[in-house]
Amino acid sequence: MFDPSTVRLTVTGPVEGPTTLRDGENVVIRPVRDDDREGLREFVAGVSDGALARRYFGAVRPERVLESILAGAHDPDGLSLVMESRSDGRPRLVALAEYRRDGPTSPGAEAAFLVTESYQGRGCATLLLERLARAAVGHGIVFLHAIVLSENFAMVDVFRGCGLPLEERWGTDALHFRIYLPIGGGAVPRPLAAGTSSGRIVAR
Ligand SMILES: CC(C)(COP(=O)(O)OP(=O)(O)OC[C@H]1O[C@@H](n2cnc3c(N)ncnc32)[C@H](O)[C@@H]1OP(=O)(O)O)[C@@H](O)C(=O)NCCC(=O)NCCS
Repeated sequence: MFDPSTVRLTVTGPVEGPTTLRDGENVVIRPVRDDDREGLREFVAGVSDGALARRYFGAVRPERVLESILAGAHDPDGLSLVMESRSDGRPRLVALAEYRRDGPTSPGAEAAFLVTESYQGRGCATLLLERLARAAVGHGIVFLHAIVLSENFAMVDVFRGCGLPLEERWGTDALHFRIYLPIGGGAVPRPLAAGTSSGRIVAR
């Protein structure tokens, strides 16, 4: 039985704007802009090959990752958010979260996250999931889904820890998550009949 008191995210509120990491650092969450190419290039270059492989399900060239992020940012049925830090005196992109709706009126959207190494474990993905969820609710999306490699404990923890109703099922080497969003101003979500959510946001 779903218990609304366990929800750790505030699904009503602004999508973009300032927020604070667990350790007190102030950051800004905002949509990817056309002038982010160089900032995103630097961000991708700062992410380890292992992290990129967990995100894109295998080895991938940074240039393809960059093009995939920029293309995704122009998807009218999607949203790409970045987290910007000024900890070293200039704006620097430290995390990215994206969703792509399965179709213009589909109930589901695929979500994915990428956080630069030095910002992992500081709550970035959790904060970004909250902002993605706010935007998705505003667009009538019922659930976010994601495929997570089974050894990706951090991502599994973010989804399991968010407190929203979840469906999990095993694929061959990965977990398939569905996270049901509050609808109608915070009403308890009602899971749809189980279906397949096999799409992946990948860098082709
Ligand atoms: C997965 C990822 C997005 C998580 O981002 P993050 O900002 O570090 O996540 P958060 O700090 O919000 O939360 C991480 C949670 O996992 C836990 N965690 C972090 N690293 C962990 C690890 N190696 N093993 C187990 N748990 C871990 C944290 O304790 C935290 O749990 P808590 O909220 O109960 O304290 C980030 O590690 C990343 O970019 N990984 C590479 C790309 C990727 O895997 N993307 C996901 C594909 S959809």
